[in-house]
Formats: sequence, C-alpha cells, structure tokens
Amino acid sequence: LAGPRLWDRLLARRGRAHWDSYEALAADHLEALQSMATLRAAGAVGRTRARLERRSAALHRATVAKMRVSLADTGLTDLAVQGGTVAAVLVACAAATTGGATATGTYLLLMLASECFRPVRDLSREWHAGHLGLSAVDGIAALRHTEGGVPDEGTVAADWATPPEVRFENVHFTHPGRARPALAGIAFTAPAGRVTALVGPSGAGKSTLLSLLLRQRDPDSGRITVGGLDTAAYRLDALRRGIAVVSQDTYLFRATVADNLRLARPAATSAQLHEAARAAGIHEELSRLPDGYDTVIGERGATLSGGQRQRLALARALLADAPVLVLDEATSAVDERAEARITRELLAAGRGRTCLLVAHRLEA
Ligand SMILES: Nc1ncnc2c1ncn2[C@@H]1O[C@H](COP(=O)(O)OP(=O)(O)O)[C@@H](O)[C@H]1O
Ligand SMILES: [Mg+2]
Repeated sequence: LAGPRLWDRLLARRGRAHWDSYEALAADHLEALQSMATLRAAGAVGRTRARLERRSAALHRATVAKMRVSLADTGLTDLAVQGGTVAAVLVACAAATTGGATATGTYLLLMLASECFRPVRDLSREWHAGHLGLSAVDGIAALRHTEGGVPDEGTVAADWATPPEVRFENVHFTHPGRARPALAGIAFTAPAGRVTALVGPSGAGKSTLLSLLLRQRDPDSGRITVGGLDTAAYRLDALRRGIAVVSQDTYLFRATVADNLRLARPAATSAQLHEAARAAGIHEELSRLPDGYDTVIGERGATLSGGQRQRLALARALLADAPVLVLDEATSAVDERAEARITRELLAAGRGRTCLLVAHRLEA
C-alpha cells in the first residue's frame, strides 16, 4: 500500500502535463475547425496542420510518459500481491511438511492467502481509474472558486415605471493589465426616454463605456447612475434585464429564427416577433427563408449574412422591450440605404425608451 505512494508526486506531475497537452490540443483543434475558411483564405492550412501534428505528438509523449510511471506503479503492486501469495503458500507448505499445521489449516491458508490481497488489487484498480479525474481537479477547483467580475450586492429591482435617465459622472476606467486608461473623466447625461448618440473613433472606449453601464466591470472611480440610483444598487440580473443590448459582435444560437428572437422574451407572440423584425428591417427576408421564422440558423448564425445577423440581433433587442436600449455600432454591417431606414424605424420603435446609440461616425 505504501510503495506506490513513492510515485504519487511524479504521477501527479505527469498527469498534469498530460492534461495540459490534452487541453491545448482540444482547444487548437476546435479553433482550427471553426476557422477553416479563414485559414484556407490566408494560406495557413499547412502551418496549422503542422502545429496540430506537433500538439498531437506532444500529447502522445505525455501519455506515454504518464503510462510509464503508472505501469511501474501497477508492477510494484502486482509484485507485492503475487509475492505475498507465494510467500504464504511456501510458509503453509513448510508448516505442513514439518507437521506444524493440520491439513485443514493448510488448506484454509492456501485459500485465504489470495483472498487477503483482493482489496489491495481492487483499491489499486480504482485508484488508476480515478487518476484522470485527479489531474483535472485543479482546473475544476480553480473554476469553482473564481470570483465574478463584480459583487452582486444590490437590492433594488430595476422596474422603472418610466424610462430612466442614464448618467456618467467623472468615470475613470483602465482595463486590467493595461497602462493607458480606456476612459478618463467621462461625464454625460442621457436624458430619460430620448436618444443619445455617442460618437468616437475606433478604440476610443465606447464599448468599454457600455460594458461599465451593464456592470461587466465596475469603474475605478466616478459614478454611473440609472434612474438616479448607482448601478451597484440594483440587483445584477434586474439591471441587465432592464437594458437591452445589441453588441458589436452579435451572437446567434443554433436554433430557429423564432427561438433566437425569443431569447429575452420567451412568451412573445408571433405578431410581436414580426413587429420587432419589421422595425429592424428584416421581416421580409426572414419570411423568405425556406421555413420562414422556423428556419434553423447555424452556429453563430452562419447561414445569414453579416447585415442580416445584425438586424436579427436588433430585432431581438427590440423584442426584449427593456426601458433602456443600447446599440453598439449595431448597423455597421448594414448598407447605407438600409441603415438610414433602420435608424428611422428604430427611433420610432424605440420611442419612449432611453436609447444609447454608439457609432464611429456621426451619419450612422
Ligand atoms: N478586454 C479588454 N482588455 C484590455 N483592453 C481592452 C479590452 N477591451 C478593450 N480594451 C482596450 O480599451 C480601449 C477601448 O476599446 P473599446 O472600448 O473596445 O473601443 P471602441 O468600442 O470605442 O472601439 C482600446 O485601447 C482597447 O484596446
Ligand atoms: Mg466598440
């Protein structure tokens, strides 16, 4: 029982190395599959294949290295088990020949000697079976003890009767690990129920500003209020439900168009779906799909064009019917004519909501 413990530390180290190379290969493999078209277009297929081969070889080496330790471990246990049985048999035989033991006693000893070692063998087998889990345990524990980005200590329910005012007061924020602040002394008021446009070049910090409003992170200093209350005073889920977002990179799920639309409002009727889609300027195109609103769109919305995906995300946000609507360059992939129409429709549909419209140029 004690012998194999000598290898424990080595086995744990090899196990971790094995797990790490397994993870690296799995992540790389998934990425390579998902970005096949990009890799092909960039002529990077050969290089990617070589990298995957290197990673596979590394996994092979790590597996063999772990197996070697593991087999030495098994060998030692088995040697002790078999050796113990043989020793018991020899002792029993010696005792029988010298007449020190009765025939029944010798018989019982021979039977029991191998039975005695059965639990040791079982234990060793289970230990090996559980070892892969042991190497994964560090990662799982780290994940379970990860703190959320912001504390959820607010108590207010965020059920504003009228659209709330959004106000930034001298907000400073620097991304962790960055030297330059992304936001330095931002102050503005988005009046209740009105459209406020935020315009600035790429990298100006517009998306960062919106992520602070949604409390993905808290500002380093300054205050963000919604409806006169600090964002931290609201329950996190309530605050986020009160703010509908169309982010810069939209995410659509592998599900029907209708399911994608109903994400934030599962009980919405078909008429409500159509109304939101019309306001986002995509109703006609959706109706023309093979199964209309019941067409299944691929992972990340792969069967739709960039502009269609954006407008679908827009419809989804409109359907959420939140009092605050945030659009982060939401029409950047839509052509100019459609853009003007959608903006007009949006202003009509968004009437009565506090709307933050982010763009990198003023015309949008
Ligand atoms: N998650 C992040 N980690 C570190 N730096 C970031 C992160 N997101 C954005 N930044 C940096 O913050 C600055 C503002 O980015 P962003 O808010 O995305 O600008 P915009 O949306 O106006 O184009 C940029 O310099 C960018 O590199
Ligand atoms: Mg941005």
